[in-house]
Amino acid sequence: MTAINASIGFDQRLYAQDIAGSRAHAAMLAATGIVTDSDAAAIGEGLLTVLSEIESGQFQFRTDLEDIHMNVESRLKDLIGAPAGRLHTARSRNDQVATDFRLWVRDQCDAAQLGLTALMTAFLSQAEQGADWVMPGFTHLQTAQPVTWGHHMLAYVEMLGRDQSRFADARARMNESPLGAAALAGTSFPIDRDMTAKTLGFDRPTANSLDSVSDRDFALEFLSAASICAMHLSRFAEELVIWSSAQFRFVKLSDKWTTGSSIMPQKKNPDAAELLRAKLGRILGATVALFTIMKGLALTYSKDMQEDKEQVFDAADTLMLSLAAMTGMVGDMSANRDILAAAAASGFSTATDLADWLVRALNLPFREAHHVTGTLVALAESKGCDLPDLSITDMTTAHPGITQEVYSVLGVQNSIRSRTSYGGTAPDQVRAQIARWQVLLKAEAV
Ligand code: ARG
Repeated sequence: MTAINASIGFDQRLYAQDIAGSRAHAAMLAATGIVTDSDAAAIGEGLLTVLSEIESGQFQFRTDLEDIHMNVESRLKDLIGAPAGRLHTARSRNDQVATDFRLWVRDQCDAAQLGLTALMTAFLSQAEQGADWVMPGFTHLQTAQPVTWGHHMLAYVEMLGRDQSRFADARARMNESPLGAAALAGTSFPIDRDMTAKTLGFDRPTANSLDSVSDRDFALEFLSAASICAMHLSRFAEELVIWSSAQFRFVKLSDKWTTGSSIMPQKKNPDAAELLRAKLGRILGATVALFTIMKGLALTYSKDMQEDKEQVFDAADTLMLSLAAMTGMVGDMSANRDILAAAAASGFSTATDLADWLVRALNLPFREAHHVTGTLVALAESKGCDLPDLSITDMTTAHPGITQEVYSVLGVQNSIRSRTSYGGTAPDQVRAQIARWQVLLKAEAV
């Protein structure tokens, strides 16, 4: 029973939140006259001693005392005697654990936001450096149209910016204090829930005691935001794996972020990127686990809910590590500008520009322009050259109206510079977005 029941092995991570919650509760019990000032003072001081014992590693966690709440309270009793027994007045472990866990998850939302700011800053410096460097843009991992390096880097800044706002939203929603819901029904003691909510930095107390002790949706929101974020990281991780391969050589990762092979001396394996590609598996696993734990639980608290913590702890640790590692790698990677440019020009990447020109200059319907362009791509392919290398005679075989002017849209640079629509890849658009993000991230830093 002890082995299956005890949570102290993992919930000791909540010690700081548990002690903060208990100190707020004790101060409130004194302010409302439920316990005497001197008892509350002894409790408050004693809890600080427990805190320092835990932080200095002297504290003996006991499995027979089940969880962090009872471990702290029991040690408090050793330290201050009888008044310790008054701390649990008008409270239950049900509202206590709901409070502790919210405080912990709230901190993780803040940590995720900080980690994301650092990563976005790293992507932004890459974007600044190569705002007008050309590279192929892909769909289906087939060369589609030329884009700029800066544009590609900014795509991740956008994704991560939405991740940040998801953590901010989740934080705002979870920031209500369950303390005072007691076991499930509230309490007959004249407690002041506004006071404890305020002390603990919550916006307000929760409004339904049953809901307060029984939901873990705040943890699910954190895990969901973390899963989406880890999904974004896994996509860039995959790009890094592809881009750093000998076939692509779009980027170079230094020895700091790669490992050597024990048998093949030429290899530099992108292990960190591969692990980052995999980490979503754990985080999404935790998300599915907690959904499965919560599904179908009748109100209110059931011990099933003790299973929430290990999932969230592991997911949060994994996310913070992933953000830090990705930040390091993005700062470390160097784009191979010449290879990117050569790749941008290959694969008939300006075929769309040719089709658009046929629409604009010859007033062809787009479908017909698409067909003419297809003919020219096939011709270039059979000649083993690129579109701009076709002669004007070659061009006019596909459509008699084509003139010399067509060459002005065919180069990669022409293509890039023409994509001036808002949010497009033209360097001026990219620079405008860089400037926008610089302002946003600077505002966050203060
Ligand atoms: N260790 C428990 C948990 O994490 C604390 C709440 C226990 N409540 C109870 N009624 N047994 O969920």
